Amino acid sequence: MPSVYIETYGCQMNVADSELMRGHLARSGYTAASDPAEADVILLNTCAIREHAEERIFGRLGTLAQYKLRKPHLQIGLAGCMAQHFRDRLLDRLDFVVGPDAYRRLPELLSGDPFVDVRLDREETYADIAPERGDGVRAWITIMRGCDKFCTFCIVPFVRGRERSVPASAVLEQVRDAAARGYREVVFLGQTVNAYRDGDTDFAALLRAADAIDGIERIRFTSPHPSDMSDAAIAAMASCAKVSPQLHLPLQSGSTPVLERMARGYTADEYLRLVERLRAAVPELALSTDIIVGFPGETERDFELTLELMRTVRYDSAFMFKYSRRDHTRAAKWDETVDEVDKTRRLQAVIALQEHVAAEINAGWIGREVEVLVEGPAKRPAGWLAGKTPQFKTAVLPAGAAHCGDLVRVRVADATAHTLIAAT
Ligand code: 5AD
Ligand code: SF4
Repeated sequence: MPSVYIETYGCQMNVADSELMRGHLARSGYTAASDPAEADVILLNTCAIREHAEERIFGRLGTLAQYKLRKPHLQIGLAGCMAQHFRDRLLDRLDFVVGPDAYRRLPELLSGDPFVDVRLDREETYADIAPERGDGVRAWITIMRGCDKFCTFCIVPFVRGRERSVPASAVLEQVRDAAARGYREVVFLGQTVNAYRDGDTDFAALLRAADAIDGIERIRFTSPHPSDMSDAAIAAMASCAKVSPQLHLPLQSGSTPVLERMARGYTADEYLRLVERLRAAVPELALSTDIIVGFPGETERDFELTLELMRTVRYDSAFMFKYSRRDHTRAAKWDETVDEVDKTRRLQAVIALQEHVAAEINAGWIGREVEVLVEGPAKRPAGWLAGKTPQFKTAVLPAGAAHCGDLVRVRVADATAHTLIAAT
């Protein structure tokens, strides 16, 4: 039987898509290879969100090409957003290029000549294709695909196509299946996950339905869009015991004029009011975010407003990026007004602020008890276990009698900006 090795880059949607391809290919007679040197097919599931992500993947392709010297029948190809982005511009270097809506045809295509399949499909949700999930305590469940927001910096709507939701019955079946297989946590995924809608079932109704399923201890979701964070969704978060008090709420910029040019659909004030409503409804809510520095036209004052908003909100964590110009997007037509030196300085400044705030927030947990869902061995200290608190903070604890998948209560003795350390 031929074997396939899949390497995943980018966001959790890609992790879930790789599980989907693994499941689909397994049922078509492919075994899974854990080493590219052993595989008959090497598939990189790729990301196109920033230029840097694409450069990494080109570098990796160069390294993998050497396996072809020893194994001429080896097929190397790209799946995912970068495959969609470059389309037929890559086939001289690759055996196949398959976009995010073409995975269903992968087994059939792999048995033929080199191919490109990057048709975007307004309907494809893969609702009937069972993923082959990895080990662990957490099951990723894609509930919607694509994005209709067209933020002016973002390539996603162009490479992932239009927004569409997986039928609620299929989502809830996956939650039940995950529970039956011993997963303790589910994470609902979508580019704008809270825009979910299947007939009368909106995102809030889906959360409530999932909350009623036995066997699952925690429910999370990523990434919601601030403009789709309805009162009903906030109320569902507040009243569903399994929905964790944690939210990734991408801000991008703290300056209203920049947000306008980004076409984000909210002002800085509206975002802050949303944070207030969320915090009033969900006690001990942990917030994380995404920040872009150096967007075209971002002035020093705009940038200071981002720092100010970050100081006001006090995020538990943040992903922070330099603006990267992407093909197709509206912002790609605008002059880049922030040079690399200023982008780097602004990035370092947001990172430094965030590290400082995160360390302070985590220090506030010292002395308190937290419930940790144990995931496996900690990187350090050796012999300890690691897991997540409801706020999605990494906690490390002495191994004791705990096992993977256990919920254990520990007292926090120490903390860094990224980790809570349990008392011995
Ligand atoms: N440049 C920099 N960051 C980007 N993101 C999306 N597009 C770009 C871009 N062109 C960031 C946003 C988004 C996260 C997933 O990636 O912050 O929320
Ligand atoms: Fe990109 Fe905006 Fe859609 Fe998020 S909401 S995927 S940033 S276009």
